[in-house]
Amino acid sequence: MNTSSARQLTLFDIKSDNFNWKVERFSANALCEESARQALEDKYMGITEITDIFNRQSVSYQLSKRDCLHRWLKYKEGFSANLVETLFEEMEIGKGERVLDPFLGSGTTALVAQMQGINSIGFDIMPTTAVALFAKGNILRYNVQELHRLADFISGLNRPASYKKRVKSIAITHHAYPDQTERDIPFYTEQIAHSSFSDEAKGLARLCLLNSLERLSYTSKDGQYLRWAVNSKRVMEANACRIAAGREPLKAKLDKGDLPSVNQVLTGEINKAIDDIVYLQASMHNLSESTEMVFKQGSALVELPLLRKDTISGVVTSPPYCNRYDYTRIYALELAFLGMGEDEIRRTRQDLLSCTVENRTKLDFLHDYYNSMGRMVDFNRVKRVIKENAALSEVVSALKIRNDNGDINNKGILKMVKGYFEELAFVYYELFRVCKKGAKVAFVNDNVRYAGEVIPVDFISTELAAQFGFTPLKVYSLKQQKGNSSQQMAKFGRVPLRKSITLWEK
Ligand SMILES: C[S@@+](CC[C@H](N)C(=O)[O-])C[C@H]1O[C@@H](n2cnc3c(N)ncnc32)[C@H](O)[C@@H]1O
Repeated sequence: MNTSSARQLTLFDIKSDNFNWKVERFSANALCEESARQALEDKYMGITEITDIFNRQSVSYQLSKRDCLHRWLKYKEGFSANLVETLFEEMEIGKGERVLDPFLGSGTTALVAQMQGINSIGFDIMPTTAVALFAKGNILRYNVQELHRLADFISGLNRPASYKKRVKSIAITHHAYPDQTERDIPFYTEQIAHSSFSDEAKGLARLCLLNSLERLSYTSKDGQYLRWAVNSKRVMEANACRIAAGREPLKAKLDKGDLPSVNQVLTGEINKAIDDIVYLQASMHNLSESTEMVFKQGSALVELPLLRKDTISGVVTSPPYCNRYDYTRIYALELAFLGMGEDEIRRTRQDLLSCTVENRTKLDFLHDYYNSMGRMVDFNRVKRVIKENAALSEVVSALKIRNDNGDINNKGILKMVKGYFEELAFVYYELFRVCKKGAKVAFVNDNVRYAGEVIPVDFISTELAAQFGFTPLKVYSLKQQKGNSSQQMAKFGRVPLRKSITLWEK
């Protein structure tokens, strides 16, 4: 690892006028104080580099769609393997070192690390991560002949009419599949689990089935919502009620037509995975069996404090964005398939880093947790840093004013934004503790705007990191910025929002 912070990073060498990326007005119509955010803008614009080496495709799942292996789980919130490779190179992470991703998602950081002989450790609250990592991490261990037999076995499965079980569902996923599919899913799951195929082959089939659920259902993950198709029982029943009550039917726009069968989709998925495995096994000669890939399902807020200090050589991660995106709703089909019930899903929603309007503060929990570890000094330090972050205090006050002004349609937004940064502060503090001197930390995140107030997530985060001792190196901002919601635009005008990769060094 190169520990010289003076070295000029070479990768993002597109210099351009930052004018368009500098926020001129943080508070629409100058309603609220904005001097602290202005001061941060002036402070960090100097290390901000506008780049088109990274783009919307590389910081999102769009590139992974085309990538062998990474496409085995469609995780729209994921970043691309290409982005992780580029950052590892930039950070000069070498073979045998250990990287960390506290928000692992579909496992991109861990898998790219594995391919380069870099050890990794990662956390996520979603059980989907474990399924994805097990199947993807076994890439070298698959016996292709066995997988062909597995594909034949699956394509020959035929559920008997006497089989009555149905796929597990929760309230928001009731009637998500056609009747036959509801029964086929548990049947195929059981047949595969009870077969004599190896654990690796069964793990691959499990991921393939998990990744098939959306296509098998009347739903579609669309932005922040799970959309329902016009021909779903849910939409048809709702419309029948509306018509009976003399109201206009809902205009559901999603038309998925006739849905494919489990047999078709699952066989297709397995065959696609076999193609990837054949290709990757032939091309990945330097993969070492001794590379460690550790994953723990759990909250980063709980797991990070358990890591030993000064042990991590680099961090590449992307937390949930502060954008009301609820992973437990978007992935409800997958969570129910993996056996989670209503209560467990509700609990998992509360474990999310505060990114939904339903999240409650975690400060009491964190207080008790740090107390139980005998680390109240650390807890109080993080709280002090949060209080001393002027831009963050300004944002919280501005949102209160907006709320009193009637500009905020959901009070949960105030709680969410405050909780989001409080929790991220604990994450940044712990990352500083666990990183070795000279380690670099890269965070991918989006700026947001609520009720006309711009929240510069990239610069507030960088300031918090600096308060804990990190040296801010760069803020890479994508050429393509983010737009605003149509309501915000209509009411407060348009302010482009940065999509950034912040890079800090211990
Ligand atoms: C933007 S996604 C990360 C995607 C990942 N970079 C990839 O390539 O797939 C954020 C992830 O954070 C997870 N998450 C949310 N709250 C968490 C928490 N408290 N602890 C750990 N993971 C959490 C979500 O489940 C989600 O998978």
